[in-house]
Amino acid sequence: MNRFIFSAVVALGLMAGAAQASTVLITGTNRGIGLEFVKQYAEKGWDVIATARNPDKADELQALAKKHKKVKVEKLDVTDIAQIEALAAKYKSQPVDVLINNAGTLGDVPKQTIGALDQAEFVSVLNANAFGALKLTEAFKANLAASQMKKAFGMTSGLGSSELTARRGGFYAYRMSKAAVNIGFRALAADWKADGIMVGIIAPGMVETDLLRASNFPGKGISTQESVAGMIKVIDGMTFENNGKPVNYNGDTIPW
Ligand SMILES: NC(=O)c1ccc[n+]([C@@H]2O[C@H](COP(=O)([O-])OP(=O)(O)OC[C@H]3O[C@@H](n4cnc5c(N)ncnc54)[C@H](OP(=O)(O)O)[C@@H]3O)[C@@H](O)[C@H]2O)c1
Repeated sequence: MNRFIFSAVVALGLMAGAAQASTVLITGTNRGIGLEFVKQYAEKGWDVIATARNPDKADELQALAKKHKKVKVEKLDVTDIAQIEALAAKYKSQPVDVLINNAGTLGDVPKQTIGALDQAEFVSVLNANAFGALKLTEAFKANLAASQMKKAFGMTSGLGSSELTARRGGFYAYRMSKAAVNIGFRALAADWKADGIMVGIIAPGMVETDLLRASNFPGKGISTQESVAGMIKVIDGMTFENNGKPVNYNGDTIPW
């Protein structure tokens, strides 16, 4: 083999190796949108770190991990700081190309309705949706920085948009938690730009999951397959131009 062909073969090998080495970390993957994210990234051949609060009860996720050896299931409640630290310690030397803070809760709707506002409910929803996502991302900064793609995402909702909220109220804790995700991840995008880490804010659309059913939404949502395929396209196409801006699964910008 002459030198030119040898170098080309080595370069192609390195490129293939680099493509295979992409790693995604996804939270809240035992059901709904998170489970579908695991499925689609696993089918693309990525290494997937899939977290769930109760891995022992996550039958569909465990079946996916059995089918795709590159899926690793880990226990994580995003409100448990010790669990966040333990996960970060376990994956200390593992570059993470894409981090998706999918885990989220709608909370108990009656307890976040005017006339029955419940403080513990607010703290619990904001803790999981906003603080937990930010804290986990903080813990994985070195992993992101060491990766090729360097992309972290907060998961928002149209219910966190101030402009869209002009149409109807309700869901106070959930709305406020998603507005907090928006501003928190926007601030993080500004803070980490100099480190070369992109921080995005994505929304899945109205998706047919347990969460949408619990919201009493009268219509039918889109499938998790359609939502996740769209969000992966948004994630793939993310550049510093849309750093810190909320983007819907179909590529539309979500107004602040
Ligand atoms: N579905 C929609 O139309 C819609 C619209 C806008 C935004 N979103 C957002 O999309 C994300 C996924 O929602 P989904 O519709 O797939 O909801 P889902 O079916 O209710 O699933 C929520 C996931 O988050 C996990 N989770 C909740 N609290 C957690 C915590 N403290 N620590 C770790 N995991 C936790 C749940 O785990 P357990 O099973 O243990 O509870 C579950 O895996 C959420 O951030 C949601 O706000 C959804």
